[in-house]
Amino acid sequence: MKKTFDVLMLSGDGIGVEVMAQVEKIIALFNKNEKLNINFNVKKALIGGVAIDSEGVPVSDETLSVAKSCNFTLLGAVGGPKWDGLSTDKRPEAGLLKIRKFLNLYANLRPIVVFDELVEASPLKSEYIKGLDLMIVRELVGGLYFGEPKGVRTLENGEKYGYNTLAYKESEIERILAVAFEIAQKRNKKVCSVDKANVLASMKLWRDVAIETHKKYSNVELTHIYVDAMAMELIKAPKKYDVVVTENMFGDILSDLASQLTGSIGMLSSASLGKLDGKDMALYEPVHGSAPDIMGKNLANPIAMVMSLAMALKYSCNEPVLADKIENAIKCVLKGGFRTGDIKSPSTPQNQILGTNEMGDKICHELASVL
Ligand code: IPM
Ligand code: MN
Repeated sequence: MKKTFDVLMLSGDGIGVEVMAQVEKIIALFNKNEKLNINFNVKKALIGGVAIDSEGVPVSDETLSVAKSCNFTLLGAVGGPKWDGLSTDKRPEAGLLKIRKFLNLYANLRPIVVFDELVEASPLKSEYIKGLDLMIVRELVGGLYFGEPKGVRTLENGEKYGYNTLAYKESEIERILAVAFEIAQKRNKKVCSVDKANVLASMKLWRDVAIETHKKYSNVELTHIYVDAMAMELIKAPKKYDVVVTENMFGDILSDLASQLTGSIGMLSSASLGKLDGKDMALYEPVHGSAPDIMGKNLANPIAMVMSLAMALKYSCNEPVLADKIENAIKCVLKGGFRTGDIKSPSTPQNQILGTNEMGDKICHELASVL
């Protein structure tokens, strides 16, 4: 009997559709391979703008319950100019926030890895980034994104007043720090906790809880840094860091910043992990957005999405070898000189600049040869 995993596929909007199509090819490759002890049962549903258009909400309760019942969810991207006029709670992005919260996906892992082949694609000098391998652990269901109170109200003088709250319970800080320490134990045993404890009371609590939680992980080194200084450090000396753990909004900003170290945000995958009713929950998605400017043009880089499937194999399927095979297939294609537009360099020959589909096919071809 093959191990079977139920997967919910939410392509979403914009380039989400095109990059997910490449992952579907890989899953088909796995499913038809007799030698592999694994099988995927794929279900599909809508999220984001396409869900607003056809179901009236950015994610339906039905979709949420299917996600809960599956082993994991794969997500492409959400959003686009068509829905920009909607209020924050009705936008495509609200669907993504809702599924993260509903599945209690509190730990968002964003690996920042510079492939040797792409050192030249980064705007930074190669000596700063060559060999870089760090893990950003972003808290994903609390902090400034979800804190109450939030909203816009009208003051007595008629002026509008908008507000969000950066709030955390001790238990929420403790569980995300624990994730960071556990990951660090399997890596270089260093955690850097990013806060703003000099200004924000909730972030002073974050630092205190980090220090307290650290007592259970004494073989890991813990350092603290303010978020503004960390933005600088990530450019100046990213290789000093191993695991970086931080608040939701800080993690959102720092991960986009860090994407430029790898050459392109089109290279960044992520895993969002949590627990609901005692069951492990997981959603895997690229860090890039729906990129409406290039959607439907076969220009998007599918590597972040494909790497997100590799993360699913590692974290949800206990198939690290298969995950490595995907990663190696990508490296082979890059080594062969093939690039998508976002990671090309001035020296990339025109005939080695590939579209989304062609990059997906090349990766499948390499992968098929090692399965
Ligand atoms: C991300 C994205 C999302 C976020 C948006 C699309 C809601 O930017 O995953 O980083 O802000 O978390
Ligand atoms: Mn973001």
